[in-house]
Amino acid sequence: MRKIRQTLLASLAIAVVALPSAVKAEPKVEVLHWWTSGGESKAVKSLMDEFKSNGGTWVDMPVAGGGGDAAMTALKARVLSGNPPTAVQLKGPSIQEWAEEGALGDLNDVGTAEKWDAVLPVQIANVMKYKGRYVATPVNVHRVDWLWANPKVLAKAGVSMPATWDEFNAAADKLKAMGITPLAHGGQSWQDATVFETVVLGLGGNDFYKKALMDLDMKALNSPTMVKVFDQMRRLRGYVDANFSGRDWNLATAMVMKGEAAFQIMGDWAKSDFLAAGKKPGSDFLCAPTPGSKGYLFSIDSFAMFNVKGADNLAGQKLLAKLIVGEEFQKTFNLIKGSVPARLGVPMGEFEYCAHKSTYDMEATSQVGGLLPSYAHGMALRGAQVGAITDVVTKHFNSDMSSADATKALAEAVELSM
Ligand code: BGC
Repeated sequence: MRKIRQTLLASLAIAVVALPSAVKAEPKVEVLHWWTSGGESKAVKSLMDEFKSNGGTWVDMPVAGGGGDAAMTALKARVLSGNPPTAVQLKGPSIQEWAEEGALGDLNDVGTAEKWDAVLPVQIANVMKYKGRYVATPVNVHRVDWLWANPKVLAKAGVSMPATWDEFNAAADKLKAMGITPLAHGGQSWQDATVFETVVLGLGGNDFYKKALMDLDMKALNSPTMVKVFDQMRRLRGYVDANFSGRDWNLATAMVMKGEAAFQIMGDWAKSDFLAAGKKPGSDFLCAPTPGSKGYLFSIDSFAMFNVKGADNLAGQKLLAKLIVGEEFQKTFNLIKGSVPARLGVPMGEFEYCAHKSTYDMEATSQVGGLLPSYAHGMALRGAQVGAITDVVTKHFNSDMSSADATKALAEAVELSM
């Protein structure tokens, strides 16, 4: 009897092994992203490793260019040629724009099985949904309004982290007089836009930011406060070095690391490069909200799955979506990426000081209406409006256009884009 059972079990095992392999799809993804700096590559590798260790095949499609402008151009070309990548790093309203085109696949089954409604804050979940169904998955929350500094350089000049733009200007004047570059900056339009939105927030306050860069209120856009914002931008132009034009953001971060410049204004992906280079917060670099900020400008990275055919690709999309929102992955990834988890309840014990400040300020600012989407990082407005504003900001930064003319041009450009 025992022998018969053993033989039966053995033949069953053979039958399982011998099932035709076509029945089981092999999860496969081609992933378009723009994470190519030292810290960013380490972060994307953690996602790739997680996917591979769960049996998936990952085809990498990195498109260099901070802020993702080049990646979005590459995406349009792929979609137009009828061959979209399976998964794409996509953000904010552009998720809705692609969903309206009918280009995105539906992830609602995975979302329901994995209880995303319960583990994601509702504001984040809403950005990931189109017509109430999940079409994208959030990886993290980045804060954009950060000022980074080299503490040794500040000490040399006898200045501390500035809390207002006046204090920043006083510190920068002192540094400049000593022959030190006050502000590490890369002259790429998205970096100009990043600095601009922090000045709007710091000088104008939360309500002004909301009116000008979210509601596109003409009175706010064409206001004396906006003139002051451009005055400050002009001042900042005087604090960057001669070679700033076209420089990538991570090379600007490296200037702060090496003590070649004192400050950088950049989202906390800059921290991922500090950390990847072995630098420690507090002793090697400092972080603080940008001068005058009483808010929190957020940028949520997410992946949307495009409409593709084939059982392997569909299985790949489902697996990737599931892993991205998983608790363990959100911790591992965000420890490297400089951001904080998008998912609720991830243990924060291993995160360093700046991440804790980010989490604390997110909560505190949300109580006073200060948790605001970043315009520069595609969270607040549609593409056409972002482009209209950024063009004026960059034109002003790179010419001797007056603040009054820039303010007028800004209002006109926004009006035309609507
Ligand atoms: C993204 C970050 C990225 C940064 C620089 C931002 O828009 O949110 O994930 O690291 O651009 O490329």
